[in-house]
Amino acid sequence: MKILILNGPNLNLLGKREPEIYGTQTFEQYFETLKEKFLNVELTYFQSNSEGSLVDKIHEVGFSYDGIVMNAGAYTHTSVAIADAISGVTTPVVEVHISNVHKREAFRHKSFLSPVCKGVILGFGLKSYELGVESFISE
Ligand code: DQA
Repeated sequence: MKILILNGPNLNLLGKREPEIYGTQTFEQYFETLKEKFLNVELTYFQSNSEGSLVDKIHEVGFSYDGIVMNAGAYTHTSVAIADAISGVTTPVVEVHISNVHKREAFRHKSFLSPVCKGVILGFGLKSYELGVESFISE
């Protein structure tokens, strides 16, 4: 089983960025833990701060991978282009967020991606990604 973890803008700063919200671990550190947890899953990781690169990556893997676990960061709340990319491919996408966006500012309550995703997991810290991967293997 092939699953892509796809992170959007500012998630390269995990560990340094607003640690009271996003924690103190870098994603690279957490990705090692994730790989150890899912030894039978071929996990790959890609991060970009650019909307077009995220769209390109969805196109690249979206007809061959079994799943994408995506945290689109702030693009969640703005991007019709990423929503259209998700709609345009056959690989199912699970939307994840580290924080519970519904406890935060009102502009974070709207997701352009949720209506085109298989499901949404949010508010469990980095564990949200683990639950996202799990959702594909426990079907
Ligand atoms: C986030 C929530 C978004 O609102 C924010 O813009 C992020 C991170 C999260 O994982 O909690 O960059 O997606």
